[in-house]
Parts: sequence; structure tokens; C-alpha cells
Amino acid sequence: MKVIIRNSAAEGSIWAAHYIAARINEKAAKTSKPFVLGLCTGSTPIQTYAELIRMVGAGEVSFKNVISFNMDEYVGLPVEHPESYHSFMHKYLFDQIDEPAANIHILDGNAPDPEAECAAYEKAIVEAGGFDLFLGGVGEDGHIAFNEPFSSLESRTRVVTLTQDTREVNARFFDGDFNKVPKQALTVGVATVLSSKEVVILAFGSKKARALKDAIEGPMSHYCTLSGLQGHPAGTIVCDELSVGELKVNSYRYFKAVEEAESK
Ligand code: GLP
Repeated sequence: MKVIIRNSAAEGSIWAAHYIAARINEKAAKTSKPFVLGLCTGSTPIQTYAELIRMVGAGEVSFKNVISFNMDEYVGLPVEHPESYHSFMHKYLFDQIDEPAANIHILDGNAPDPEAECAAYEKAIVEAGGFDLFLGGVGEDGHIAFNEPFSSLESRTRVVTLTQDTREVNARFFDGDFNKVPKQALTVGVATVLSSKEVVILAFGSKKARALKDAIEGPMSHYCTLSGLQGHPAGTIVCDELSVGELKVNSYRYFKAVEEAESK
């Protein structure tokens, strides 16, 4: 696992956007096959998306040959609800880039048969060629996508019940009203994310410090589903100084030293 520590969320976001764009451009230079990208929601990726939008506008990268699959969606929230992940993604990314509408995939939280919807999603990912890169965030309790604590690290796309913690944290998007936060979601599994050739996780701010401590220094465990990244050959966490505040000084120094050595 690599941990890229930047001074601020803004610097980390720019690093991540440039990294993703470089990967898309590298593949485009080698093959006409599409780049398959996993995407996330939440407040964390907004600045990364803003930089990608700028880069598309400036002709530095194109999403014309990108196929994307989002991580998750609430169950039962109308697609047009401002807090649906469909609305979020269109507002903060898709409406401002050149990705063809047919290449955009988001789980349907209103599907009449949610299990069939999840199975079809896994099938569509395989048919697209599998993920080249999955961009994710992390919940305060270490969850990745909506894989709450004690989700199997072998999990695949499925219906999940959200924890009280997650609903309380996400109440800020629903007028601060916990009761308005849906109780269930459809989510890719931990193993779905880890099936990607590369995984890049963003984590900014002191509220993510415990999750990063558990994911980086703790055992690989269903207690903190982000810790599954420890078993991935190409996992990177991009973070700021505040989010690594709970790491041991020696862990912090190790990641800083590796990055410095590799940048020379
Ligand atoms: C939700 C999403 C996750 C996201 C997390 C953190 O639970 N399902 O994918 O990583 O929120 O959100 P934020 O970036 O707002 O802290």
C-alpha cells in the first residue's frame, strides 16, 4: 500500500485528479479499449472532480472512451432527489465532462428486483473488461463504498442496511434529519472494489484519522473494510496531514520517506 500525504485536501485532490488523468491518457496511447473507472460520491471527491472537469475543458484528458461504474446508491430515493448519488454525480462531474451517457453506470436504488440489479451490475463490470482504476472515499468508521463494519472482505454488489453511525453522519445532507436518510443502499462489495487493477482512496480531515489508523496499521479485518486494501497489489491512499494525525510517527515517516525517495 502507498500513502501519499499532502499538506491539504486541495493539494491531495489535485494529485489524485492528475494521477487519474495520467492513467486514462496512458491507456489511450496504447489501446483503443475503454478505460474502466470506478467512482465515488461524498464531499471528499468534489475537488478531485473539479480538477478533472478543468482538465477536460483544457484538453488535458478526455472521458470519451471512459466507462464508469459508481460505487453505490441509496435504496428508495427518487433518482431526481438532490441527494441521490445519481443527482450528485451529474452535478459534480458528468454534466461537465465529455463522458458519453451510455458509458455511465450507477446502481438503480429503485429497481423492482434489487438482487437482480446487483447481479447485472457485476456482470456489466466484467463485460466492460473489469476496472482499471477505482476511486473511493472512506467513511468515518472505515467503510468503503457502503460496506459497513463487519461486511465480508469477499463481498460483491448487494443490498445492505446502513448503520446508525453512517445515517447520523449522512444526515447533514438531509436537512440534519437522521430519519430522512434511507435505511438501505445498493453497493459494490469490498471484493468488487479490490478486483480493480488499481485502487485510489481519498481521505481528508481529522474525522477520517481513526479510519486511516485502522486501515493502515490495524489488521486486515472486516471491522474496518478499507483495511482490505492491505491485500491489494496496487492500493494508494491519498490524504492530508489532518487525516494521518492518528498514525504512529514512524508510519508517517515511512510513507513520507518512500514518497521522497521515489520522486528523485
Ligand atoms: C458515504 C459513501 C462513501 C463515502 C463516504 C464518505 O458513506 N457511500 O462512498 O466514502 O460517504 O463521505 P464523505 O466524503 O462525505 O466524508
